[in-house]
Amino acid sequence: MLVLGIETSCDETAAALVDDKRTIRAESVLSQTELHAPHGGIVPEIAARAHLEHLDGLIARTMRQAGAEFADLDGIAATAGPGLIGGVIVGVMTGKALALAGNKPFLAINHLEGHALSARLSHDVAFPYLLLLVSGGHCQLLIVEGVGRYRRLGTTIDDAAGEAFDKTAKLLELGYPGGPAIERAATSGDPMRFAFPRPLKGRPGCDFSFAGLKTAVRQAVENAGELSAKMIADIAASFQLAVADSLSDRTARALEVFKGQHPEGKTLVVAGGVAANALLRQRLSALAGEHGLALVAPPLKLCTDNAAMIAWAGVERLRLGLVDGLDFSPRPRWPLDPDAPKTIGAGVKA
Ligand code: KG4
Ligand code: ZN
Repeated sequence: MLVLGIETSCDETAAALVDDKRTIRAESVLSQTELHAPHGGIVPEIAARAHLEHLDGLIARTMRQAGAEFADLDGIAATAGPGLIGGVIVGVMTGKALALAGNKPFLAINHLEGHALSARLSHDVAFPYLLLLVSGGHCQLLIVEGVGRYRRLGTTIDDAAGEAFDKTAKLLELGYPGGPAIERAATSGDPMRFAFPRPLKGRPGCDFSFAGLKTAVRQAVENAGELSAKMIADIAASFQLAVADSLSDRTARALEVFKGQHPEGKTLVVAGGVAANALLRQRLSALAGEHGLALVAPPLKLCTDNAAMIAWAGVERLRLGLVDGLDFSPRPRWPLDPDAPKTIGAGVKA
């Protein structure tokens, strides 16, 4: 079974060919970071235009690299949400056109499902598992019971974890994207210099909050006046530790719930761009060990946005016959668990 995956929901244009033996036959990712960097964040119109300009060429290149013809495909999977609507429309329309022209099944993939199942592409992970999904747009704890079967235990009530990294990097004038820049700066910093808050730590439930932490960082930056390299490193290190602490605290609570409901569960999975963070991986690995579970983190290129995870979600769905019609409408907001209780607080992320 061979599936073409298309990803255009944010600032990466990507195409990949993945088979049901978990082999990535070919993949191409074109990052738009340089286009958005001067604006300090993603500009949706610029993103959509760039996807439109590059997607066709990227798909052609990926097919060539794999030595595959469109006739060889068993399905075409495209991210159909959640994400920036302009980009999602570009990917979905392209996927549908290819499906229609080649008379192939079309698979409308939830981007979050792509992240959620990515660990099963890189590792031999059985259902059920607990997933910490941490990216630029999302911060959630989910029990993954099977393909299409997700139960959300917690989500952010304000910012996503990656968003907190990006905003802090902006305050520290470290550029965009912020996560890798903060991690680099933190290596020479003192994580104990600033006692930043760990919002919601020790409180019941598994929700996240990063707004208070962001305010504390802003105050530290303002009090510092001139930002010396040492000050930047110390703030970055103290911030990173606060995020890692807060994410592990919430995950520890979710692990209790998961173990109570699924004593047979063996795995904690971390996915999404922030999963690239080494300190976070270290903390989660220790936490999983304490609970008798293994931590699985997909390789970095599968953690940040990519099309291999979308193609793989396509394989998983196609195997179960879960195909979509060509009338499927893109969904800019699309929760993985529609039954999850609504979280209090404004700006709840999908
Ligand atoms: O999954 P992703 O590529 O895109 C979304 O779907 O959002 O995640 C991107 C996010 C950005 O906010 C970026 O700052 C963060 O992941 N990130 C990191 C690291 N690498 C990327 N955060 C912390 N440490 C890193 N090493
Ligand atoms: Zn993502």
